[in-house]
Amino acid sequence: MINIFDFQKKKASGEKITMVTCYDYTSAALVDKTGIDCILVGDSLAMTMHGFDTTVNATPDMMALHTAAVSRGARDKFIVGDLPFMSYRRSLSDNMDAVYKIMQAGAHSVKLEGAAGNAGFIQHLVESGVPVMGHIGLTPQFVHQLGGYHVQGKTDESAKRLMEEARALQRAGCFALVLECVPTPLAAEITRELKIATIGIGAGPDTDGQVLVFQDLLGLNTDFRPKFVKNFLNGAELVTGALEEYNQAVKKRTFPDAEHSFGAKKLAKSA
Ligand code: KIV
Repeated sequence: MINIFDFQKKKASGEKITMVTCYDYTSAALVDKTGIDCILVGDSLAMTMHGFDTTVNATPDMMALHTAAVSRGARDKFIVGDLPFMSYRRSLSDNMDAVYKIMQAGAHSVKLEGAAGNAGFIQHLVESGVPVMGHIGLTPQFVHQLGGYHVQGKTDESAKRLMEEARALQRAGCFALVLECVPTPLAAEITRELKIATIGIGAGPDTDGQVLVFQDLLGLNTDFRPKFVKNFLNGAELVTGALEEYNQAVKKRTFPDAEHSFGAKKLAKSA
């Protein structure tokens, strides 16, 4: 399993870092069999696992439940647990309770969105032994503030602001930074500027690593296909195909056959 220092080592050596989201035991056990470096139990689970429209509905309890399942499935992966909407913008005591739940569930670090107003809390977490991953650019928890899901940092002013946020998060003690939906040249510039590793999603090829949502990577979500998503499997077609095959087999009485049945003797008729 990699640790936080390996993120910087990989950045220095030019070896790309791979991260995938994961929310349940079975998927985590599959990821554990691969060379993928780390798992993000993302608050995107509010959408992918619970069917909400945005990540705003994720809660610390939801995050802890899914993190615990993932940590039982992926025993050999570095796990980042997302701090959900507002869970790090309350009192210090409430913020720490949210972090505590997620770390106790098996995360090795937490991720939070945005820079403004978060530096003090990040520093407190780092000094408490909790590694923190930052996340800037398109921060889905801010969807209503951003007016939708749009590429960020397209103007000089917003690009400058993102660069300042990236520096501020590094100064606060983050060990890595997710850059979501920012133009390739800006992501490359931030990556060159920072000592900590950048992990991109919709940020082009020049970040130190990449992250994708499990369902998007496997083509399981046919309703959502932004430009930056590549389906590495035609999962929806394969899975629905198998489900339909099962449906037909049962209805046509070809399943279960003798091979999949126990050869018990018929019960003797009672007198
Ligand atoms: O929750 C999530 O899946 C994320 C990734 C998109 C980085 O934060």
